[in-house]
Amino acid sequence: MNVIAVIGSPHKDGPSARLTLAAVQGARDAGHHVDVYYVGDMNIRGCQGCEFCKNNSKDCILNDDLKPYWEKLHAADALIVSAPNYCATINGPMITYLNRHYCLINAEWKPRIHAGIKVLGIFSQGETDKEKYMDAYRWYMADFENRDMVLQDIIVHSRRGDGEVTPEHELYKRAYAVGNSF
Ligand SMILES: Cc1cc2nc3c(=O)[nH]c(=O)nc-3n(C[C@H](O)[C@H](O)[C@H](O)COP(=O)(O)O)c2cc1C
Repeated sequence: MNVIAVIGSPHKDGPSARLTLAAVQGARDAGHHVDVYYVGDMNIRGCQGCEFCKNNSKDCILNDDLKPYWEKLHAADALIVSAPNYCATINGPMITYLNRHYCLINAEWKPRIHAGIKVLGIFSQGETDKEKYMDAYRWYMADFENRDMVLQDIIVHSRRGDGEVTPEHELYKRAYAVGNSF
């Protein structure tokens, strides 16, 4: 099975990255191949709304660091996306990344990627109330569900409420279990 993990935080050792890597570990332990992308290290342009994808039924024409990602995604069985909460929503680079998936909807407004890719969302916030930003997290994951992906879980970490993520942490075990079940 092919799995893609996209880490949206600039903190490579922060809670959202650690929880993502827990899911990655679970997937690898189950024998899956995992490609990990660090969005903070990538040059990802915003969607230009050029409609090339719709007019030609092709992946995005922009020549940036997402170029190899589309082929991987078409061959993927599972996708893990993670982000910190900035200003009550998903951080900017991960919204830019999300916008680029516009190319996976065709001119008839149907998904142009195979159905059934499992998708896991992992978010970290300062706030202890985990329901406070849940609408934003559901909105984010819905864009993947609109491309016929199947939501497995939304894991929310609170920096103030949950503290440091270690392998003993309940959330680490939850993320590992989802990755292991792909
Ligand atoms: C620019 C910025 C804006 C933030 N805005 C919020 C916010 O609106 N609500 C919140 O709960 N946390 C907010 N935070 C806190 C982060 O979400 C929190 O520190 C999180 O644990 C970061 O996760 P990471 O280390 O995995 O990137 C903000 C942090 C930054 C840097």
